[in-house]
Amino acid sequence: MEGSSGIWERVRQKPFALWVIFGGFVYLGLVILSLALPTLVASPASILADPIAASILVFMALFFVSAYLGLKGKLWTSVLSAVVSILFLVVFGSFLVPSLANPADAAFSLAISAIPALVLVAIFSILSIIHAKSGPLQKRYLATPNSAGGLLTIGIIGFVVGGLIVGAIGGSVILRNIPAIRADITIVPNAPSMAMAFTPQNFTVSVGGTVTWVDKDTTGHTVTSNVTGLFGSPLLSVSETWSHTFSQAGIYYYHCTPHPQMWGVIVVS
Ligand code: CO
Repeated sequence: MEGSSGIWERVRQKPFALWVIFGGFVYLGLVILSLALPTLVASPASILADPIAASILVFMALFFVSAYLGLKGKLWTSVLSAVVSILFLVVFGSFLVPSLANPADAAFSLAISAIPALVLVAIFSILSIIHAKSGPLQKRYLATPNSAGGLLTIGIIGFVVGGLIVGAIGGSVILRNIPAIRADITIVPNAPSMAMAFTPQNFTVSVGGTVTWVDKDTTGHTVTSNVTGLFGSPLLSVSETWSHTFSQAGIYYYHCTPHPQMWGVIVVS
């Protein structure tokens, strides 16, 4: 049976639990990568300067490493998976839970995915540790999807997919129902990292164009040119807007005075 059906055979030879751990980690690694990529490309230094963003990236790396090593199915790799998944939930749980309340939130997709997926990974990792001596293939719910373990996995995947769909619909409804304020750039609450609070972070406008910012966060922020004195807003309070007209072509970096990690860039062309 080593021939054409080789890949499927190899998949079936490994306990189902290991593929759940692998899939959970890879999926979450990719979610974080997709959220962080725009900032990573535009300004890697700003991520390193933001301790929350930097530690999320460290976890992204740990997720990929744990996914790969987890397939070895050793006791120590199960311990690694359990530690990484539980540590992320402990460190970022309180930060992600508020995002669940708002589907328009930038971190909603991460929150709705990360919490159930990591709980599932943690459960399978701990069960793999408990049954490491006899080997996970000896326990039906770890060995095959045709079991209680498989049902739990399907249930959680269904919950995540359903949550993402409801979130996408809910987010667009919420955004459509706040038409009173027209703004190009929104300062969002609960951004995946403070560096990304100006959304979109990159904004292009033609020469002579006006850009409007709105503070949708629960605290005050400013829009302040990195080049001193070029442009700068007062401290914006909740739902307050501020506009600036750009009369010369160029690339204008700006930040928030109380939170220097918050940054954005206006391209005037
Ligand atoms: Co700020």
